[in-house]
Amino acid sequence: PSDVYILGIESSCDDTSAAVLNIRKPLSNVIATQKIHEEYGGVVPELASRAHQKNIVPVVHQALEKAGIQASDLSAIAYTKGPGLMGSLLVGASFAKSLAMALNIPLLEVNHMQAHILAHFIEDEAQKRPPFPFLGITISGGHTQIVKVNAAFDMEVIGETLDDAVGEAFDKCGKMMQLDYPAGPIIDRLAAKGNPKAFTFSKPKVKDLNFSFSGLKTAVLYFLQREKQKNPNFVSENIEDICASLQYTIVDILMTKIKKAIQQTGITHVAIGGGVSANSAIRNALLEAEKQGTLIAYIPKFEYCTDNAAMIAIVGYYKYIEQDFKNTKLAQARFKI
Ligand code: KG4
Ligand code: ZN
Repeated sequence: PSDVYILGIESSCDDTSAAVLNIRKPLSNVIATQKIHEEYGGVVPELASRAHQKNIVPVVHQALEKAGIQASDLSAIAYTKGPGLMGSLLVGASFAKSLAMALNIPLLEVNHMQAHILAHFIEDEAQKRPPFPFLGITISGGHTQIVKVNAAFDMEVIGETLDDAVGEAFDKCGKMMQLDYPAGPIIDRLAAKGNPKAFTFSKPKVKDLNFSFSGLKTAVLYFLQREKQKNPNFVSENIEDICASLQYTIVDILMTKIKKAIQQTGITHVAIGGGVSANSAIRNALLEAEKQGTLIAYIPKFEYCTDNAAMIAIVGYYKYIEQDFKNTKLAQARFKI
């Protein structure tokens, strides 16, 4: 039926988001970003939960208002069950459960990682949908995975980070250079004016399709310490070149594994997701590989790359049409009052 309206709620990290989808079409996708963490140089879990508490009601209100519907028009509510920060998740979960109970509609549990991948299925003119099977690459501040996606709910993690996530590598290296948090987008901007070959950082030797970024972080730390001993102004004088070289190394690590995954699986459709997919160098590297015929790249709109509720709602929609809420676990959540 065309009158299916799914409310999505995302609160796994430091963004409070609510979205309404009509079938696969987003009617609203409201995101309240928490600025409070900037001064701490990273997400402070307790502060994040408190901010979610404050944001959740107005954000959901706005999402409904922008969509032009009433809560009573909703067909189901989808929320992020995990993975994420416990206190943050709890705020979204309690809110979603209470609202579903009050409206007497199905409650759908969504895996955040699955949502980053299925974000490609949100209906948007600027966005093409990958065909199955495809490789889903989730790169963000909390995760770095290569996923073989056979169907919407048939996914297999074939590679992942053994330590830090790629976004964390950007953010932590940025912190060493006194850049604000999150440093990823700042490094991206500074790198545009720098020479990617100015400095070389050794790449980790990691088996199979897995990643490791903690070694790179240490390499950057020692490099900066060494250079600062020679010249105390080294960082400020070379910031653009350092950022360009660091970004070049990170993108090289990612692309090497993506190409290896293509070789191993024979799958050439590559869909990226997560905050780091906003990075211009990774986007260019994928488009370059596409030009060379190595792969076909699917790059979502920025709004759907970073944490957002539209991606939670799209997973909810697929679960809804599969009537996943009738599964034992979700049936219990379908309250009858
Ligand atoms: O998906 P996301 O919003 O949140 C999660 O971590 O789940 O991703 C945030 C991460 C941060 O580490 C941020 O530095 C990184 O994405 N990021 C970028 C860029 N934009 C955001 N990293 C590199 N280049 C960018 N343009
Ligand atoms: Zn995420």
